[in-house]
Amino acid sequence: MVTGRIPEPGVELLRAAGHDVDAWIEDDPMPRDELLRRVVGADALVTLLTERVDAELLDAAGPQLRAVCNVAVGHDNIDLAACRERAVTATNTPGVLTDATADLAMALILMVTRRLGEGERLVRSGEPWRWGMSMMLGTGLQGRRLGVVGMGQIGTALARRAQAFGMSVAYTNRRRVDPAVAAELGAAHVSLDELLATSDVVSLHCPLTPETRHLIGEAELATMRPGAFLVNTARGAVVDEAALVTALEAGRIAGAGLDVFEHEPQVHEGLLGRDDVVLIPHLGSATEETRAAMAVLAARNALALVTGETALTPIG
Ligand code: DGY
Repeated sequence: MVTGRIPEPGVELLRAAGHDVDAWIEDDPMPRDELLRRVVGADALVTLLTERVDAELLDAAGPQLRAVCNVAVGHDNIDLAACRERAVTATNTPGVLTDATADLAMALILMVTRRLGEGERLVRSGEPWRWGMSMMLGTGLQGRRLGVVGMGQIGTALARRAQAFGMSVAYTNRRRVDPAVAAELGAAHVSLDELLATSDVVSLHCPLTPETRHLIGEAELATMRPGAFLVNTARGAVVDEAALVTALEAGRIAGAGLDVFEHEPQVHEGLLGRDDVVLIPHLGSATEETRAAMAVLAARNALALVTGETALTPIG
């Protein structure tokens, strides 16, 4: 069962393998009660990040269920313990969205430091404006430090991009990155506190877990350099959004570029009217090619698991 609308190549792959596929084709998510009804008897679920995969859903499917294949690299929508208890393998889609998401993080860095959203709004507003030496000055990236929180594939790909813009890189991560990669990027491994205190741009790339919920709160925002920027393309709840608004209002940091929100799709009122924030609607992996590749990888995981093979990209 494909619980949300995904690109056709993913569904095609499942059908071409001879499976009976029940695929939701509306853009809005399937109502929960309908999902709980339709899921009965499914061997595999292909899910979107908007789907809550919990004990209720797994039990509704039944004991034959083998696989939950998320069409996303993030998997905070899945109760992994409930999956394990029922011998259900959960998978995600790492790798195929690395470049798209790193591109978007770089775009947010450029937008927020160069005030591009604000500039675009000015031109569209029809308000009079003319070029001026001191008009809408931003912050250059050259010689500045990027702090990457979570140096996995996306964090590393962003670091490469930032290096090309003349930035130095520091990172914090549970594990140190491959020494060859660290040397190539000149990336220093530092504590979160040191990263926050020394970076001009802090970019978040860690998964949302109980440990990383509100990883960036009042104290962490207070540790950031005055004039620094925060960028989040990970999950909204990694940042305490209310604390972020307070820090922005107090001028503690210079701005934020956000692709994700704590209570998505709701956005904190205090962010909406601010010119020092760039707000975009969770577009990290939103390219045609990337979304098709994600759907295909999720389908390949489902096919492998229903035929008793090992998943390509199991979680954990
Ligand atoms: C993910 O994969 O987790 C992104 O948030 C959506 O592609």
